[in-house]
Amino acid sequence: MTPSAAVDPGVDVVAAPLRLPAGGSLRGRVKVPGDKSISHRSLLFGAIAEGSTRIEGLLPAEDPLSTAACLRAMGVTVSEIRAGQPVLVEGVGLDGLREPAEVLDCGNSGTTMRLMLGLLAGREGRHFVLDGDASLRSRPMRRVGDPLANMGAHIQGRDNGNLAPLAVQGRSLHGAVIGTPVASAQVKSALLLAALTASGPTTVIEPAPTRDHSERMLRAFGADLEVDGDQGRFITVRPGPGLRGQTVVVPGDISSAAFWLVAAAITPGADLTIENVGLNPSRTGILDVLAQMGASITVLNARDVAGEPVGDLRVQHGPLRAFRIEEPMIPRLVDEIPVLAVAACCAEGVSQLSGAAELRVKETDRLAVMARQLTAMGARLQEHPDGLSIEGVTALHGAEVDSETDHRVAMSLAVASLVARADTRLRRPEAAAVSYPGFWDDLARLRC
Ligand code: S3P
Repeated sequence: MTPSAAVDPGVDVVAAPLRLPAGGSLRGRVKVPGDKSISHRSLLFGAIAEGSTRIEGLLPAEDPLSTAACLRAMGVTVSEIRAGQPVLVEGVGLDGLREPAEVLDCGNSGTTMRLMLGLLAGREGRHFVLDGDASLRSRPMRRVGDPLANMGAHIQGRDNGNLAPLAVQGRSLHGAVIGTPVASAQVKSALLLAALTASGPTTVIEPAPTRDHSERMLRAFGADLEVDGDQGRFITVRPGPGLRGQTVVVPGDISSAAFWLVAAAITPGADLTIENVGLNPSRTGILDVLAQMGASITVLNARDVAGEPVGDLRVQHGPLRAFRIEEPMIPRLVDEIPVLAVAACCAEGVSQLSGAAELRVKETDRLAVMARQLTAMGARLQEHPDGLSIEGVTALHGAEVDSETDHRVAMSLAVASLVARADTRLRRPEAAAVSYPGFWDDLARLRC
């Protein structure tokens, strides 16, 4: 069942669609791959630390591979990334990155490009060019470039510096107090990286709290970082201390677990246990929404692993009610909305999503793509500029659908296929490999 073709959004699709059979249920245990956000950060922070960093459970998927390839191009030794094997990063220190001879290819990964901008902006006298695939070339980058410019950064690109390919001319940066324009952990993390080598302290003020993996991990690596203010929205970095290599243990990605949470919640007879899931409170919005919907989810074996809360999640099928998701909740579940749209199709009542315009600038315009693809399966929904209204308990029918090259859309449509009345045919399923290369094998194994 494993589709193997590499994702290239610029190439016409010729491969036959993947057939996803209707009927059956889901049972068993599944271990989702490592958290994508924590994986990127462990590679990046390890690269600029002194000494080696050992990463256990790093996500062996296309996005972290893009980060590793960029770091290698700048002289960092990163061991081969293979499932189940620890990854070793030999740090080059805060200012040890070499000017690369080639363009840094960020692939499909917004996190790679945005965090790299922050990492590279302060490498005085060095020049870097960052590029990506067709999807990444269309995503907004001035949300990082503008606040970095307040620290003295010099970044140029198409559309007035907004679109890749981007050129970074490394400069010495000064500290600043910066209110970020959007609630985005990528923007915040880029600024925190730049702040490490600025000439004075930098305070980042977020409009709403976002995932705090950078703060937790930078502290563990020895940075002088303070979190303050209402809901931890003020983050101050004082430059000075170098980072020291660490052992990082990456928990399973709750954004990947989300597919199984919804799959089991909506599929009659389903009972799944998802092991070793990261439960950082800045990421658990999906659990709150599923609880609001009446889903049966139990947290088992809650524990702390290397500074991040972790647990196992047992989820069983049961009746669901419609959800209401509004703007303040979005940062805690931003990547889970495509699969929550599928859950809404199976819930009693009309689910309302608003304040979610950010979804339009993800790997695809996820509001438009999910609306288009679920409508093709017979869902009754309306698309709004910043959200969706989805009428529940609609019988979905088998259809030919398309991931439109978006990994989370591919997996969300696979979840929808579980409750469709006839087989679904999914075009471009290989997109799943961006964050969850074993997804199709896990799906085949859990089906019963
Ligand atoms: C990420 C932050 C989120 C998320 C992305 C990963 C991160 O993006 O959608 O998949 O690792 O910081 P934004 O920060 O732009 O919301």
